[in-house]
Amino acid sequence: MEGETVPASRRAASKATRIALGVFVAGTVALGTILFWVISQGLIKFHPKQQYCLTAECIEAAAAVLSKINQSVDPCDNFYRFACDGWIYNNPIPEDMSNYGVYPWLRHNVDLKLKALLEKPISKRQDSEAVQKAKILYASCMNENKIEKADVKPLLSILRHSPFRWPVLESNIGPEGLWSERRFSLVQTLATLRGQYSNSVFIRLYVAADDKVSNRYILKLDQASLSLSSREDYLENTTEAKSYRDTFLQFMVDTAVLLGANASRAESDMKSVLKLEVKIAEIMIPYENRTSEVMYNKMNISELSAMIPQFDWLGYIKKVIDTKLYPELKDIGPSENVIVRVPQYFKDLFRILENERKKSPHFCLNSFRGVFPCGQQESLVSGTFISSKQFYCLLQIHSPLSLV
Ligand SMILES: *[C@@H]1O[C@H](CO)[C@@H](O)[C@H](O)[C@H]1NC(C)=O
Ligand SMILES: *[C@@H]1O[C@H](CO)[C@@H](O)[C@H](O)[C@H]1NC(C)=O
Ligand SMILES: *[C@@H]1O[C@H](CO)[C@@H](O)[C@H](O)[C@H]1NC(C)=O
Ligand SMILES: *[C@@H]1O[C@H](CO)[C@@H](O)[C@H](O)[C@H]1NC(C)=O
Ligand SMILES: *[C@@H]1O[C@H](CO)[C@@H](O)[C@H](O)[C@H]1NC(C)=O
Repeated sequence: MEGETVPASRRAASKATRIALGVFVAGTVALGTILFWVISQGLIKFHPKQQYCLTAECIEAAAAVLSKINQSVDPCDNFYRFACDGWIYNNPIPEDMSNYGVYPWLRHNVDLKLKALLEKPISKRQDSEAVQKAKILYASCMNENKIEKADVKPLLSILRHSPFRWPVLESNIGPEGLWSERRFSLVQTLATLRGQYSNSVFIRLYVAADDKVSNRYILKLDQASLSLSSREDYLENTTEAKSYRDTFLQFMVDTAVLLGANASRAESDMKSVLKLEVKIAEIMIPYENRTSEVMYNKMNISELSAMIPQFDWLGYIKKVIDTKLYPELKDIGPSENVIVRVPQYFKDLFRILENERKKSPHFCLNSFRGVFPCGQQESLVSGTFISSKQFYCLLQIHSPLSLV
């Protein structure tokens, strides 16, 4: 029985195989024919060669990269020279700058565009209020005739306001300009400088995205910059750094005397101002220690006040915020969160200020930056800052623009 069934099933299997083979061959031939037809009709294209982007933008971008590299240097040999030779050759550091790179280059190009925009006449219909204000600010800053004519008068009137009285001037700008220790308030002075003149002295308070909750804005507190451009200018003993300090001191003395101070008093007061700035430079957190992890210290104002009780943080923040403009911020309180970027700097800062205050009650208003709320010193100090008037006026507009 077994002998008969096996050949029968074998026959059936070989028949099925032949049918399958037939179907396969016929299918392949049909598919091949269709494919041949499709290709011959041009419905599908093969691209044997790689495609290159040849739009104007691509060519410009490629040229920009090529102009920065040096193809005769082997990247495995010296990657820095391979990547940067061309840029370094084509972009020598400008005479009036201490460093240069792609960002300053970009900034300069944005400045040129900004200048062209700001010099366009105001259009009450098209320009937003903020743009109109920026144009007015730029035009008033460029109005040299009027500035020459006004001379120091606007500055003197600021110096007679209570938060800005300057001890070194004594009563030389009139009895109403006389500084009084009893009426002096550090919180009030720093807050007025920050709030009304956008000038950060000792403390930099600003609003930015919370680093760890990036869809929320939060108050941040950081160290402010000093009068000279870098911390090293105060701390190093190179001939260059020393000459910056000497020039800065002379500039402060000259300015105080021009405003009416007694020369010998100005000399000694301004020396102590410079000493104070050196002390602050010592405690500033250097660039290499400013990592985002270390600077993320989130706490509420009440915790901040417990950590650094020498300063009325809540009072300061409330004074800086313009509640007429933002009435909803009126009831900001001790539970408000802030990011304290440099806790150690603040601890050291108030220790220094406390000591100075004991030594000389004039400590704060002698701080030179406080006297030039509009940042005028930057166009004059230390040579490296000197640039065209236009650049200076643009500088005045950059910081408010970023808030618009
Ligand atoms: C590129 O490298 C070669 C070989 O080192 C060198 O001679 C040449 O000056 C370099 N070019 C630039 C623009 O630096
Ligand atoms: C610079 O000189 C001063 C005074 O002589 C000294 O106290 C200071 O340590 C020096 N600084 C450096 C970085 O050498
Ligand atoms: C400046 O003050 C000193 C000491 O108080 C005094 O001797 C000197 O005469 C004053 N100079 C001027 C120009 O008033
Ligand atoms: C900067 O960081 C280094 C290494 O963590 C530390 O030794 C140094 O004291 C820090 N300097 C300041 C000024 O915080
Ligand atoms: C500030 O934060 C601490 C710790 O989270 C909390 O105990 C305290 O109640 C907070 N203070 C206020 C005024 O919200």
